[in-house]
Amino acid sequence: MPKYNDISAFHEKLTRSKRILAVCGAGLSAASGLPTFRGAGGLWRNHRATDLATPTAFVKDPGLVWLFYAYRRHMALNATPNAGHFALAALARKNGKFLCLSQNVDNLHPRAGHPSEQIKLLHGSLFDIKCIDLNDEDGEGCGWIQHDNFDDPFCPALAAAAEDVEPDKTLPLLDPDHELAKIPVSEIPKCPQCSNGLQRPGVVWFDESLDGNMLDAIDAWIKQDVVDIVLVIGTSAVVYPAAGYAGQARSGSTSVVTINLEAELPQNLAKLKKNDFAFAGDAAVLLPKLLEPVIGQPRKDGTYCS
Ligand code: APR
Repeated sequence: MPKYNDISAFHEKLTRSKRILAVCGAGLSAASGLPTFRGAGGLWRNHRATDLATPTAFVKDPGLVWLFYAYRRHMALNATPNAGHFALAALARKNGKFLCLSQNVDNLHPRAGHPSEQIKLLHGSLFDIKCIDLNDEDGEGCGWIQHDNFDDPFCPALAAAAEDVEPDKTLPLLDPDHELAKIPVSEIPKCPQCSNGLQRPGVVWFDESLDGNMLDAIDAWIKQDVVDIVLVIGTSAVVYPAAGYAGQARSGSTSVVTINLEAELPQNLAKLKKNDFAFAGDAAVLLPKLLEPVIGQPRKDGTYCS
């Protein structure tokens, strides 16, 4: 029978397990104050976040899409990793056979000390900058990429996204009734390599492919041997390929473990298979408790001894 909110049964499985895969989504960073995509907070100035995350939206209005990403960069830079990120990073340090796949682009996994060779950032990073050629039909750029660009605001034209406001006030940028002046394309930085293209956020948009080498490496890792546990953390599991990895990694003895605020909904419980577990609640609260037999107790600042 699948187990619901049964921490001691999970601990028993965890202590017998070697190969562990995690698939993370925006719910993991919710406790750090970053909004999810499909829950409350999924709207940005009356635009669905998912409508702005496309090459077509960027070609139509690069300034608007950049403002959305500049604001997300600002929020991510001002957020701190939570106990869930620290627990996953500690698991990675304790268990070399743990691989974490994350859809999150907020840089909180690396900032929590997650070893880079044990994480695949499926959707890229807000802090990578790439080239996009608006005149190319597919929007392909010249291949230029810059990592770890933490400029905030990203450029002077995007200053409205990095304004600091008092805690009880709304940032004018976020008020849909506050009119936004259109940012001319000429004010978005050009690609320094080809100068035909514009600089764009290094995230994977809808209608774009994920990095093929990264996908091959993930497939090879899954095929290598039985995966004992798949942790599915804070994701609505509707976007592929992330949504398919639990199924791909499942064998007869695998436990798929859902950690999600909505895990107790009947339609979610109905999907569980014999060896599965589900835990309803905040990932930042649950992960330290669930992983404790391997990672121990956190220090006062939330981090773990390595
Ligand atoms: N703890 C655990 N789960 C949570 C928490 C929390 N504190 N808060 C919210 N959740 C759950 C919600 O119940 C929901 O199932 O996290 C999930 C968030 O789902 P989405 O907003 O759809 O985020 P995600 O699954 O990461 O979206 C996938 O879609 O728009 C794209 O590229 C974007 O990477 C993103 C992808």
